[in-house]
Amino acid sequence: MDGNIFEKILGQDSLFIDRKAFEHAFEPSNLPHREQEVDALVRNLVDALNGHIPSNMLLYGVPGSGKTVVTRFVLSQLLEKGNEMGHPVQTYEINCRNVDTKYRVVQTLASQLKQNGDYLIPFTGWPTDRVLETLIERMDRAGGVHILVLDEIDNLVAKAGSDLLYSLTNMNTLLKNARCCIIGISNDLNFTQELDPRVSSRLSQEDVVFHPYGAQEIQDILQERVKMGLKINSLEIGVIPLCSALAAQEHGDARRALDLLRISVQKAEQRSQQKVDPKHVRLAQSQLEHDQVTPVLRTLPLHQKLVLFCVIINEENGLRNISTGEIFRTYSEACMKINIEALTPRRISTLLNELDTLGLIMARNVSKGRGGRSKQVNSAIPKGIDSIKTLSENEPLIQEASQGKYMLQGRL
Ligand SMILES: Nc1ncnc2c1ncn2[C@@H]1O[C@H](COP(=O)(O)OP(=O)(O)OP(=O)(O)O)[C@@H](O)[C@H]1O
Ligand SMILES: [Mg+2]
Repeated sequence: MDGNIFEKILGQDSLFIDRKAFEHAFEPSNLPHREQEVDALVRNLVDALNGHIPSNMLLYGVPGSGKTVVTRFVLSQLLEKGNEMGHPVQTYEINCRNVDTKYRVVQTLASQLKQNGDYLIPFTGWPTDRVLETLIERMDRAGGVHILVLDEIDNLVAKAGSDLLYSLTNMNTLLKNARCCIIGISNDLNFTQELDPRVSSRLSQEDVVFHPYGAQEIQDILQERVKMGLKINSLEIGVIPLCSALAAQEHGDARRALDLLRISVQKAEQRSQQKVDPKHVRLAQSQLEHDQVTPVLRTLPLHQKLVLFCVIINEENGLRNISTGEIFRTYSEACMKINIEALTPRRISTLLNELDTLGLIMARNVSKGRGGRSKQVNSAIPKGIDSIKTLSENEPLIQEASQGKYMLQGRL
């Protein structure tokens, strides 16, 4: 091979001028279409600068609707203003997907307030009440208002119940020289139903709902990033509208739109093209779908894989709106071929519901007269994916099942 293998790529002109503008961690200072949400946070949190306690808040919205980025932006502005005015404000951000026990949350908060000479609180081992007392002592020592952001708070409730949130929302009765306010962020509008009612009413003093972005709003968000991150004239006209429309279909997710655009640019670069065009966006979309769906397909349990396999082979045979009865017939046949015991129709119905929740099929309930109910099922796996191959990858029984011949119902 002539020369160093990296040289060709290194020398290539990039369409990016600043890749950071497309990274997930990037925090833009301009947040189009989130003025009302910013305003709701500001109107409440301004109390921290006026010597009052802001209300606790819950922020809701679908993934990628800007909850985290808006909160970070507002808190950074609050810190700046607090410093300028000589009002100490302390902010904390905890992602409850990673820090998901009462002990770990309190330990993380207290550790942030550690000063020289303080105990180092271990990751485990102390009684939780002792960690909580240390947190309260340290907050009092620091004084001022403490704002605790609990991002993806539904994870915490699912794993640790109401107990921690009870303690945190009760802290203002124990603090002498400081005050605290909690901002919970969640994708799940219903998570407070799992909370003790005393906790949910204290936590949700003020709710802000982030609506899903529409295609036009996503276009504005992308335009800002394009100005920062890409060379002028690197996009064909249809690229931003297409990325925005695809992400708007995907529950109005700005993260998805940014990922799509970033990958589209990479696709153009890989092909040494000077401009990104809609074809690259299509390639990026199928890569994203593939990356999203294949790990789910691979890790399904055996019977779930079998049920999905039965939906797929019926579809490949031309059938649409496949009935639960038909799926069960094919499934029983497959179980016989690979010599395993079939589950009951009732279990298969539950497995179909789970596949629906995972987004792998679409199941519609239909009434069959005289009170009977059935489902009509269609697969929802993106077309570019070789589903049966992926299902078989680490499951030889699916491979075996896929080699048999089936008595399938023809097209109706
Ligand atoms: N109004 C906006 N202007 C600019 N960028 C935005 C805006 N809204 C969202 N983004 C960007 O979209 C991505 C997703 O936003 P963010 O992480 O805040 O979503 P989220 O609502 O917290 O989602 P999740 O529920 O999945 O945590 C981030 O990269 C963020 O910078
Ligand atoms: Mg978030």
